[in-house]
Amino acid sequence: MAMIGGGPGSFIGPVHRMAAELDGAVRLVAGAFSRDEARTQSAGRDYGLEPNRVYSDYRQLLERERREADGADFVAIVTPNDSHFPVARAALDSGFHVICDKPATATLSEAIGLAEIVRRSQPLYALTYTYTGYPLVREARDLCHRRELGQVRKIVVGYTQGWLSERIETSGQRQAVWRTDPAQAGIGGCIADIGVHAFNLLEYVTGLRVTEVCAELSTMVAGRALDDDCNVLLRLDNGARAVLHSTQIAAGERNRLQIWVHCERGSIAWAQENPNRLEVLVLNRPAMTLHAGETYLGPSARAATRLPGGHPEGYIEAFANIYRDFAADLTRRATDPTAQLSPTLCGIDAGLRGMRFVECAIASSSNGSAWTRLNE
Ligand SMILES: NC(=O)c1ccc[n+]([C@@H]2O[C@H](COP(=O)([O-])OP(=O)(O)OC[C@H]3O[C@@H](n4cnc5c(N)ncnc54)[C@H](O)[C@@H]3O)[C@@H](O)[C@H]2O)c1
Repeated sequence: MAMIGGGPGSFIGPVHRMAAELDGAVRLVAGAFSRDEARTQSAGRDYGLEPNRVYSDYRQLLERERREADGADFVAIVTPNDSHFPVARAALDSGFHVICDKPATATLSEAIGLAEIVRRSQPLYALTYTYTGYPLVREARDLCHRRELGQVRKIVVGYTQGWLSERIETSGQRQAVWRTDPAQAGIGGCIADIGVHAFNLLEYVTGLRVTEVCAELSTMVAGRALDDDCNVLLRLDNGARAVLHSTQIAAGERNRLQIWVHCERGSIAWAQENPNRLEVLVLNRPAMTLHAGETYLGPSARAATRLPGGHPEGYIEAFANIYRDFAADLTRRATDPTAQLSPTLCGIDAGLRGMRFVECAIASSSNGSAWTRLNE
């Protein structure tokens, strides 16, 4: 693996490194961790890399790694949103497989362009929608896809954070600085940063597609250029209805991502801050709680669990499940040029859906919260 981004003090780059290497199939061998030479070299030392495999420019990395006999096989993109598209395009064009953090791009037109490139490229492309790696999210998905509780009628999905309750970007907090700057974050603030996680979780778990949205995006902290609070009603392709809310100004909240799926004969509920449990409520029956690591879970949840029940697994392991599936796909691809991404993974279609959602919600909100079609 070669990593672009993930320099000193960054959030998600080190998580990618830990997750990628957890199961032993992937090793970080090269990186362009920062645009600054001293910082990229400092990160390279911390990651234990040879100095000649550390670059300050991703184009140089792609060029050199392509020529190395033992060069990287794939590129992980963990930079702010504005560089996802140019880096992914350059990496795919150079023949590297790509795994990129969300959102896929900074704008919908970039996502449409990237989808074209991915469809005609040989290398594989995946997105790290972290929450899809949790065993009980995969169990919830299997329950929904088998329609065990009947048709889905209503979904409530919420992603509540409080770390942007104050204007910390003005004091230089690095993650806040770029997330509140349209030039680096793209067209959406909270909606593109965490609203896309909620949207992805909704479509991933239910297997349904959102067709229309009615959104109100607000900027609650004065002086910010992008939204920091989002309230969205959604209609789905089977007639179900949904409520999606995401906010970064819920003072005191940490990372409360939750989903409730209500079906004809029962409901399921999962919460990211307590991820090893899945509530399953069946009409006229006692409530059930499923636990990670137990033998009664389905094959995809069991495959995503490394420890017996009662031993907590969390964020890194969920991330590592995405990397493990991706590494297995690359291994299959090495002998079978037609091998595609595993169905557990999110690819460019999910990336494009996410950017359509962002742009559609912004359009609805700026048009008096009018119902707006989320076009294919
Ligand atoms: N999957 C998740 O749950 C999750 C969580 C957090 C962040 N993210 C996503 O990950 C990405 C990074 O977020 P973050 O919070 O880690 O940001 P960050 O600011 O903490 O780190 C970004 C890093 O990228 C480096 N960088 C920027 N441009 C570069 C370039 N052209 N070449 C090389 N390095 C470059 C910076 O120097 C920095 O080290 C964002 O797209 C964000 O949306 C996803």
